[in-house]
Amino acid sequence: MEVSKLAVVVALSVMHAHAQLSPAADDIIDMTYLVSPDSLYWPGLPGLKFTRVSRGPVNFGSGWYEDNDICGQEHQCTHMDAPAHYSKGKWRVHQIPPHRFFGPAVRIDISSQTAQNNEYNLQVEDVQKWEKENGPIPDNSILFIYTGWGKHHDNRTAYYGYEGTDSWLDANGNPLPHFPALSEDAAIWISSNRKIWGVATDGPSIGPSKTMMAHVPLFKKNIFILESVANLDKLATTGDTVAALPLNIKDGGGAPLRLMAFKKARIRPGADDVIDLSYPLSNDTVMWPGRTPFRLFFLVHGLTLIGNNTIWIETNSFCGSEHAGTHLDAPAHFIKGSWRTHDIPAHTLIGPAVRVDMSKKAENNSDAVLTVQDLEDWEKKNGRIPDNAMVFLHTGWGKFVNDFEKYLGSKNRSHRVNDKGESFLHFPGFSGEAADWLVNNRKFIGVGIDTASIDAGQTTSFPSHVAFLGAKKLVLQNVANLDKLPNTGTTAFVFHMLHKDGSGAPTRVVAVKNSAISAGQVSSGVDVRPKLAAMMMSIVLILISCPSCATYA
Ligand SMILES: *[C@@H]1O[C@H](CO)[C@@H](O)[C@H](O)[C@H]1NC(C)=O
Ligand SMILES: *[C@@H]1O[C@H](CO)[C@@H](O)[C@H](O)[C@H]1NC(C)=O
Ligand SMILES: *[C@@H]1O[C@H](CO)[C@@H](O)[C@H](O)[C@H]1NC(C)=O
Ligand SMILES: *[C@@H]1O[C@H](CO)[C@@H](O)[C@H](O)[C@H]1NC(C)=O
Ligand SMILES: *[C@@H]1O[C@H](CO)[C@@H](O)[C@H](O)[C@H]1NC(C)=O
Repeated sequence: MEVSKLAVVVALSVMHAHAQLSPAADDIIDMTYLVSPDSLYWPGLPGLKFTRVSRGPVNFGSGWYEDNDICGQEHQCTHMDAPAHYSKGKWRVHQIPPHRFFGPAVRIDISSQTAQNNEYNLQVEDVQKWEKENGPIPDNSILFIYTGWGKHHDNRTAYYGYEGTDSWLDANGNPLPHFPALSEDAAIWISSNRKIWGVATDGPSIGPSKTMMAHVPLFKKNIFILESVANLDKLATTGDTVAALPLNIKDGGGAPLRLMAFKKARIRPGADDVIDLSYPLSNDTVMWPGRTPFRLFFLVHGLTLIGNNTIWIETNSFCGSEHAGTHLDAPAHFIKGSWRTHDIPAHTLIGPAVRVDMSKKAENNSDAVLTVQDLEDWEKKNGRIPDNAMVFLHTGWGKFVNDFEKYLGSKNRSHRVNDKGESFLHFPGFSGEAADWLVNNRKFIGVGIDTASIDAGQTTSFPSHVAFLGAKKLVLQNVANLDKLPNTGTTAFVFHMLHKDGSGAPTRVVAVKNSAISAGQVSSGVDVRPKLAAMMMSIVLILISCPSCATYA
């Protein structure tokens, strides 16, 4: 009896051998609301603006091109509040260490209380009652407060408990909305007694709606906040893992967030286990010739009277091309009628990362291209590109990313081609043949590159865009830190901003070492036999080396 109990413990720990992750659709919950000009926005802040730049026939690529500009704000729809949002000097969004974006999810359900009282705030007793039933909130977790408010998300008046859109404070500085959230006392208790990375709610804010003071104790401990979380009814009370990746906005007080829960994987990275593959977006972000630059605008930066308290607030808005900084091209960017941003299935944004290094080849030749032979040579050394892989091409161009002329290989900032249609640009990339070979011979989810385009600068026909986007692969450009990415052994999370009808989107991309991921019994691509052998061996070793263990109770 006791031995079998022990065997279960051993079996569970061995079953959690490391794994790369390539989840099926049923293994994830996308907890992100789609952002569009029709989405809800906090009273007094701007909503999303979406401007078509191009949608129609062109004389390059496959003959079709879509491109848009977006203006948004950090705190619309599903978003992260960085600690600096209400706490001067604490982390802004680009300063949060990215391993904190992953952790065990715990969910405390107060939906029955909020059904009686739309301003019920989670109390210390609710946390203690939950812990009595489920054990202490684990270290490094993200705590979700399930208020049930997700069911009101299609009704602005019900969701905010207030109809107005112009301002959220009355003339005396008192908040006008009414919604359930977290009490200040519980925020103090949680931040003092538990070691967590973040607190989340399916309501509009962590609140409380009368004072907003629950933010402050959390932010003082650099705990981030996730608000307007979708699908919280589907999250388990314990046992799920979440990944919460905000856009990497330099100096952001918050950011649009892509949030997913994993039902069958544990992701527990330490600080050295995550490689951030995204550059912070800023006014200095180098753009493709002629495209709208990213701009961050301060909306509020200063002391604000809320109720009876004066609080430091930082809130910003931003504008720019969908294709600014580290970004995703959606298939519709080049392919008429194909997927726009909101059509891409969420589970296909995660897969084993591989890195192909052509930096030596490109060192003295800015027009170098990756060939089929280069890919075959890579596979001889590193093994076959795994199914569902994200294939990253390291050209070494990342070191030029802040210098337009070196990065693009051109002095002309407004035009890509001269009057004869010849490209001004010089930087390395995929050859069309290598792109076709991958599409025809390997099963992968996407590609990424540390230059401004996956096609080399000299192209005028964009064969790699046509091949990859034509096959509905993810295409990432301006990918950061590929010099630090190992050739194999990590899993990529490609969490793009989820706005409607995008031809692309700014994207937070991170790679997590597979040693920090375990996939339980359902791991994909991992042979279960070595685990069973290891399990049997562990039990035998325990029985031999530890006779007293047989009386373990
Ligand atoms: C939206 O919610 C408000 C407040 O609960 C309610 O009065 C109104 O009827 C709702 N509107 C719709 C269209 O359901
Ligand atoms: C970015 O540029 C815009 C427009 O030039 C300017 O208004 C804004 O203050 C700049 N943002 C920062 C953070 O400097
Ligand atoms: C603000 O202070 C006044 C006077 O002490 C008190 O009556 C009121 O309830 C306070 N408001 C809030 C929201 O705590
Ligand atoms: C590139 O050129 C430099 C300077 O001529 C040389 O030292 C280096 O070996 C070259 N690199 C390659 C990969 O050929
Ligand atoms: C950039 O290229 C365009 C098209 O050839 C040309 O009209 C323009 O003068 C160039 N600008 C600069 C600064 O050279």
